[in-house]
Amino acid sequence: MFEEVRNFIAEADAFNPAGREELEQFRLRFLGKKGILGGLFSKLKEVTPDQRKEYGLLVNELKQKAEQKLESFRDAFESAKEATVKKDLTLPADPVHTGSHHPLSIIRSRIIEIFSRIGFNVSDGPEIEDDWHNFSALNFPPEHPARDMQDTFFIDLDPDPAKYRGSLALRTHTSSVQVRVMENEKPPIRTICPGRVYRNEAISARAHCFFHQVEGFYIDEKVSFADLRQTLLYFAKEMFDEETKIRLRPSYFPFTEPSAEMDISCTFCHGKGCNICKYSGWVEILGCGMIDPAVLENCNIDPEQYSGYAFGMGIERITMLKFDVNDLRIFSENDVRFLRNFKGA
Ligand code: DAH
Repeated sequence: MFEEVRNFIAEADAFNPAGREELEQFRLRFLGKKGILGGLFSKLKEVTPDQRKEYGLLVNELKQKAEQKLESFRDAFESAKEATVKKDLTLPADPVHTGSHHPLSIIRSRIIEIFSRIGFNVSDGPEIEDDWHNFSALNFPPEHPARDMQDTFFIDLDPDPAKYRGSLALRTHTSSVQVRVMENEKPPIRTICPGRVYRNEAISARAHCFFHQVEGFYIDEKVSFADLRQTLLYFAKEMFDEETKIRLRPSYFPFTEPSAEMDISCTFCHGKGCNICKYSGWVEILGCGMIDPAVLENCNIDPEQYSGYAFGMGIERITMLKFDVNDLRIFSENDVRFLRNFKGA
């Protein structure tokens, strides 16, 4: 009796099927309803009580062996089958979720592209800036409110006097890059400076403590306000549409004289009046003017020989108009439900 079970164990051990059918036969032979194991278990009652335990263990060993065999070969045959199944190549591919450019990057690139077509290159400057480049060289008087703690994030560090002129702060505008470029290059200079700027403002739908600007300026002999106006008109038509009109209103900036603010005709209502333009038909998009001779002088450019214009715009503002966004905060929230709207833009 024991001998019989041992022989079955040896048989199960040696079993090495070539295919699924052989495996199925093995299953039926050992584990099936009328299979060997059922028979052996039912013989348990014929075994004398003192041998019953040993017999039971042996039959259990056979059962485990048979089950293991069955399982391991079933897995092997299953994966082999999968590998040979032909894939339907006409099925749609699994969707690949690609990222998208941030809307502010899209508009920044667009601004660079528009100006590069008329000969502007791109300049860069540091976000941590000294008093000279951010304020003094740009003609800000010492008591100007922009220098106030309320507007500027000062940095409590003693700067290396060989590198920096005055105390350090996060730049409050990209006009600081104007100064850096003028100090290092000789006219003619025609460049734009995109970058991040910081102001100590309470965060709301319309203001943030950091945002982005593009500064632009052109210095050469005989640069006039008419050149400025025509360049900005070209920009407005390229950025919005051919129908876009511009309007320059007198304004004040310490670093330009004369200074102006530029409005474009409202891209939503085309001048008819809506809540975007507050029923005026016009939306302000940038500040500009002729570079003050004192600023040129501060940067060692002779104002007798050269003149220049400058302008500065907020990238957020243009992006909000282009994509009909009405809350500035959404640009820095990293919400994919917002960001994935810009795929392919
Ligand atoms: N720096 C100004 C600001 O942050 C923007 C600006 C106005 C830049 C007039 C200019 C300019 O170059 O000519 O509000």
